[in-house]
Amino acid sequence: MIVPGYRDQPTEQWDPVAPVDPGEAEDFLRRCYLENPRLGPVEPRLAIVRAQIAATGSYVHTTEELSHGAKMAWRNAGRCIGRLYWKSLLVLDRRRARTADEIFSLLVRHLQTAGDGQLRPVISIFAAAQPGQPHARVWNEQLIRYAGYRDEDGRTVGDARQIGFTSAMRGFGWRGKGEHFDVLPLAIETPAEGVRLYDLPERAIREVPITHPDYGWFTELGLRWHAVPAISNMRLTIGGVHYPLAPFNGWYMGTEVGARNFADADRYDLLPTVAARLGLDTSRESTLWRDRALVELNRAVLFSFERAGVKMTDHHTESERFLTHLRNEEKAGRSVPADWTWIVPPMSGSLTGVFHRYYEEMDLRPAFYLDDEAISLARDGSRCPYPHP
Ligand code: ARG
Repeated sequence: MIVPGYRDQPTEQWDPVAPVDPGEAEDFLRRCYLENPRLGPVEPRLAIVRAQIAATGSYVHTTEELSHGAKMAWRNAGRCIGRLYWKSLLVLDRRRARTADEIFSLLVRHLQTAGDGQLRPVISIFAAAQPGQPHARVWNEQLIRYAGYRDEDGRTVGDARQIGFTSAMRGFGWRGKGEHFDVLPLAIETPAEGVRLYDLPERAIREVPITHPDYGWFTELGLRWHAVPAISNMRLTIGGVHYPLAPFNGWYMGTEVGARNFADADRYDLLPTVAARLGLDTSRESTLWRDRALVELNRAVLFSFERAGVKMTDHHTESERFLTHLRNEEKAGRSVPADWTWIVPPMSGSLTGVFHRYYEEMDLRPAFYLDDEAISLARDGSRCPYPHP
């Protein structure tokens, strides 16, 4: 079944009851120790891990294994164009946190560590799922997202993608201001406490007001966007161990905001507004008013982040960097899984080098997966994988 806006990706069906697969553990450990000679010989470690799995159904990663495993998962993420920097990932080991309060304060620390200008890629890894036992999770798809509302006349305020999630939060008693850029609360679920909502403190939320280098009226649109994209509902799997709560962030490529979040008809849908302000002829598609508005919107986004001193990349630069990454990986003797439909930027595709070639899609592990239940919780707070009939 195809749910608009939530495309499938290659995903293993995770069986939360099954013990860790010793073959997958061995495969990961051999690769990890091969890539990091300073960790010493893998054989003694394999013996320990096999015994741990036999006795408990799982095993515990060392800090180095966790850290390198997370980097490998990023390296294997076929939809990410920003993988040149995979080695620079900062891995925060948060496996001891248990309560929602603890988790929340570490999520705030995560956002602060990611920075508010010169951003750095960070992942916080919380406790591994134990086979057959409930685990902690965050319902939100990202740590920072804007609420969406439908008013009485059926008009949308805010991010239309978040309407279902926003009304779930309202069901728990949360009230937003009802404006276009209300940051949603975090819904943190733990086995002992159920779901608890937390408002992020302002110090954890860096935002950039959007202005245009040439058009003064752009300010009047009242647009803004948050500095840090931090995916919070993907499961990290390393060597057969699953980490259902492992939020990670990088920095934005301008088109994610300018060509998707602001432009998609089922998001902020701003192209008609921008075109009207530009005085474009919108009576026919062939005037390319959409394309012209799209370029100005994207110029504004890149200009604003640059002016605010918040790290953001453009799609031309990032395409070249991805091609460099492909060359690096080839030299290292590794293959790079990549999904063309995600790697090619959503505007001016053929102007970028990544457009003019094909890629292999492979399900390599360690990996990040988006489970059906995680999709559903982020969509409307329900555990049903598909919309209610
Ligand atoms: N496209 C998503 C958004 O607009 C963010 C996905 C991750 N992006 C990134 N640059 N790490 O919020």
